[in-house]
Amino acid sequence: MKDDVFTFLAKLLRDQSGLALPRDKEYLLESRLAPVARQHGHQSIDAMCAAIRGGQNRAAERDIVEAMTTNESFFFRDTATFDTFRKSILPTLLTARAGSKSLRIWFAACSSGQEPYSVAMILEEERARFAGWNVEMVATDISNEMIQRSRNGLYTHFEAQRGLPIQLLAKYFDKEEQGWRVKAPMRERIKFRPFNLLESHSSLGVFDIIFCRNVLIYFDLPTKRDVLERMSRQMARDGVLFLGGAETVIGVSDRFAPHPGHAGIFVPAQAVALDRAVGQ
Ligand SMILES: C[S@@+](CC[C@H](N)C(=O)[O-])C[C@H]1O[C@@H](n2cnc3c(N)ncnc32)[C@H](O)[C@@H]1O
Repeated sequence: MKDDVFTFLAKLLRDQSGLALPRDKEYLLESRLAPVARQHGHQSIDAMCAAIRGGQNRAAERDIVEAMTTNESFFFRDTATFDTFRKSILPTLLTARAGSKSLRIWFAACSSGQEPYSVAMILEEERARFAGWNVEMVATDISNEMIQRSRNGLYTHFEAQRGLPIQLLAKYFDKEEQGWRVKAPMRERIKFRPFNLLESHSSLGVFDIIFCRNVLIYFDLPTKRDVLERMSRQMARDGVLFLGGAETVIGVSDRFAPHPGHAGIFVPAQAVALDRAVGQ
């Protein structure tokens, strides 16, 4: 791939999705964008880039961004995280929100939906504690295709077996010819919608819990910082942020601080400061 084509594509991806593409990942461009070029009627990636350089082909740009997203996900990914959610974070918030009986959860890069459905199953298992509560789950991703997949809630046999205990599969999924589909009431409980983390987050409202796992790893430092800072404005003062196992706020943003008791979980920095001030 010519230098100027790589530079053009790296800038397009950085500007439109935050993806930071080092030169040693050029092979990914070749393998993922060759089909996009063909689909848009071009002989090669070089030819496609030459045609869209003027910025007149939003559909091709969208397809390029979409093709370059990495959508790996599975049910109960990092089991310990979901155990902590169920056994510690949820009970604490249930006590804190006993007055309003309202809880808002955002899955900021939900991919094909396994992460929000994992949480939805936990909430359903704990439903006796939620009688009369209003629990809103919003799941977003930059990829339209992933949002559609999430809404469909249909998983292959392989996907359904990855991380999902057999009793939950039997309870919350229907078997179909192509695989296993999440039962309708569970699907309807989650609001899936396309959303780019580089956009303003303010229209989403304020959340008590945010899952933003395994997406910041693809961004460069200024983009990580920017996303975390904007996310901090959408978080309740005593809210909780879940990041992926390889992600942290340390050295990235001072808006969040590590949860005092749990690795991989973060809280608004002013909450930590206030707790220290009152000696908790
Ligand atoms: C590896 S998946 C993580 C899925 C899930 N959170 C998990 O941990 O299993 C990363 C997701 O981030 C999404 N993504 C990448 N850039 C994004 C952006 N700028 N805004 C929103 N989502 C983005 C991708 O489309 C992809 O589905």
